[in-house]
Amino acid sequence: MQVATVHFDIFNGLSDDEAQGRIRRARDRLGKRAVILCHHYQRADVFRHADITGDSLRLSRLAAQSDADYIVFCGVHFMAEVADVLSRPEQVAILPDLAAGCSMADMANLAKVERCWRELAAVLDPDELITPVTYINSAADLKAFCGDHGGIVCTSSNAGKILEWSFKRRQKVLFFPDQHLGRWTGHQMGIPLDEMVVWNPDLELGGLTVDEIRRARIILWHGYCSVHQMFQPAHIENFRRQFPDGKVISHPECAFEICRQSDAVGSTETIIRIVKESAPGTRWLVGTELNLVERLAAEVKPEGKIVQFMSPTVCMCSTMQRIDPQHLAWCLESLADGNIVNRISVPAHEAASAKIALERMLSAS
Ligand code: 13P
Ligand code: SF4
Repeated sequence: MQVATVHFDIFNGLSDDEAQGRIRRARDRLGKRAVILCHHYQRADVFRHADITGDSLRLSRLAAQSDADYIVFCGVHFMAEVADVLSRPEQVAILPDLAAGCSMADMANLAKVERCWRELAAVLDPDELITPVTYINSAADLKAFCGDHGGIVCTSSNAGKILEWSFKRRQKVLFFPDQHLGRWTGHQMGIPLDEMVVWNPDLELGGLTVDEIRRARIILWHGYCSVHQMFQPAHIENFRRQFPDGKVISHPECAFEICRQSDAVGSTETIIRIVKESAPGTRWLVGTELNLVERLAAEVKPEGKIVQFMSPTVCMCSTMQRIDPQHLAWCLESLADGNIVNRISVPAHEAASAKIALERMLSAS
């Protein structure tokens, strides 16, 4: 039986304990009709309710395989969009707080990417020569753009394979929105730094010369993650001075110099795996979001491993942090009462093209 939708304000005043209890009771009522997916950056008081945890690639694969009616995505907006695009039409993707966006994803938009494509067309034929590659941290209409232009999506765990796929088809890549992931991946493939140029969407021809565009193998969008740009080479240098035997591991959204000075670079899932598989007693400096690092530190502590956060200042993904127990309780209780709130629904024409680019990624990785 459907009851009237309760406004979120009623839940906003709940204490954390009350919210936790209401989440548990709503989950019991929903049973297998709802699945809760949590990204590794999710705060602990929400993460504990996850049915499935993972990095962006794992979560998109598992969202596509889920049988649940409701896919409740405790992540950020683009992740819930991917779940909507890849799930069956009758399934419903939910983002508990619609304000949980990704500031990096917002650094590229369709109008600017289309303008970039048009400006590039004045220099060369982009549809012949350039594969557009969008990091999964992007809006669905950019994934659709890639689907429509022979392009593809990548995540931080498959970017190497995706660039190989792209270069098999066309000579160059336009990589957006994260310049750091694009640069690091290109570097790992042996592409010289001077053959990777940065396209500034606010400048005519991206601020590049015709010659620079003709010579470039990868055109990197001028985007970055505000969380990962907090990590500085000095943080690694201090750590290495203090702990010469310590190991450093970073996410590829970190700046080039951080990745270069790290012992390992990988997606959130890879960071967790490598630290868990390391020898007892290893000391790690980890360059990625704080919620993940704190959880990992607590998990491996019994084996004598020490996990330290790379920055002396707090760097959380403040947008993902918006999904709190109060929002989760509100969404789940509303669903259990028969009311769908905060549905993420990608328009059908966009979803069809975005799905092409996502499916290319899933089969290429
Ligand atoms: P992962 O794909 O490694 O989970 O990274 C997603 C993300 O947004 C990191 O900032
Ligand atoms: Fe976006 Fe950065 Fe948050 Fe990842 S950590 S979701 S890139 S803002």
